[in-house]
Amino acid sequence: MDISGDFKYVILEALKGQEGYLSGEDLAKKLGITRQALWKHIAKLQEKGYEIAAVPHLGYQLISCPDKLYPWEIQHKLSTKFMGKDIHHYEIIPSTQDIAVDLGVKGFPEGTLVVSERQTRGRGRLRRNWVSPYGGVYFSLLLRPDFMPLEQVSCITLLAGLGCIYGIKRSINISGFLKWPNDIFLNGKKLGGILCEVDAEADRVNSVVVGIGINVNPVRDNGGYSVGDKISNGVNTLEKLPPYATSLFRETGKRVNRVELLKKILEEIERLYFLLEKEGFSLIRQEWQEFCFLRGERVRVKTLNREIEGEAAGIDEKGHLVLKTGAGRIEKISAGDVEKLG
Ligand code: BTN
Repeated sequence: MDISGDFKYVILEALKGQEGYLSGEDLAKKLGITRQALWKHIAKLQEKGYEIAAVPHLGYQLISCPDKLYPWEIQHKLSTKFMGKDIHHYEIIPSTQDIAVDLGVKGFPEGTLVVSERQTRGRGRLRRNWVSPYGGVYFSLLLRPDFMPLEQVSCITLLAGLGCIYGIKRSINISGFLKWPNDIFLNGKKLGGILCEVDAEADRVNSVVVGIGINVNPVRDNGGYSVGDKISNGVNTLEKLPPYATSLFRETGKRVNRVELLKKILEEIERLYFLLEKEGFSLIRQEWQEFCFLRGERVRVKTLNREIEGEAAGIDEKGHLVLKTGAGRIEKISAGDVEKLG
């Protein structure tokens, strides 16, 4: 759905591009509506949490924006070709994965994005819970990588992780790390994770839903902050994170603009996805290894039926973990949990 013709979008664009007051008469003329109709649209935006001052004879001025991942905010100056062109936004749902999987079955286009402010039954890999309080970024992206065989689809998890690292870097200039297969780490703690769910037949991939959760500014209640980064309403009690996890707020001491972060991540994932389609996995593999958290370290890998120890030596062309297990022996692991030894 293209929302660039939507009144909300056009009004916000005009208000954001204006320092000081914007004349109601001029804006109404631009939109081809009456001033009363314009006022109704402004009131709807105020209901959504936009603080807009209205002064007779002066017009309207945007004072602050709500801290929400609204579709029109994400699409504002988003430079992607197809990712995030159709966005389904929720306040609270059990899991963005469920919705995106369903949209995939219903034939929604590649790049469809499902995003939620909070999840009540967020899920991670190996059926773990993904605790999803307000203030994080939780989304699921629908992909249809019909250019790749089923056995290569796990590369998408790695690609998405790399996209997050680049997106975080572009957004707040901080470098995270990747832990095979799906963890995003910052300063030795888990910052986020990726869950890919595949709908495939014997030789055909119908869709892949890439679910990404990042701890950004976790709050107990819906905080909301102003354009000037001041807390404008709500409760801002930081959620207690488990000792092995962290958030961007905790690491930087600053609230991070979630919309900008999500936009950069989408742009980076799309760029890498085009690269994968055109050139295959080899370049992405090289780049992924540069950010590999445990490369060269002694690790223990738990797979479904065994535990293996060795030195983590990177990933192969299928995205499998390469382990040097001693005496020149190499093991390749397609799925498992890695922990650092010593
Ligand atoms: C993991 O670390 O095990 C993966 C976590 C993935 C969490 C994200 S949040 C958005 C999407 N919806 C979910 O229920 N899970 C993924």
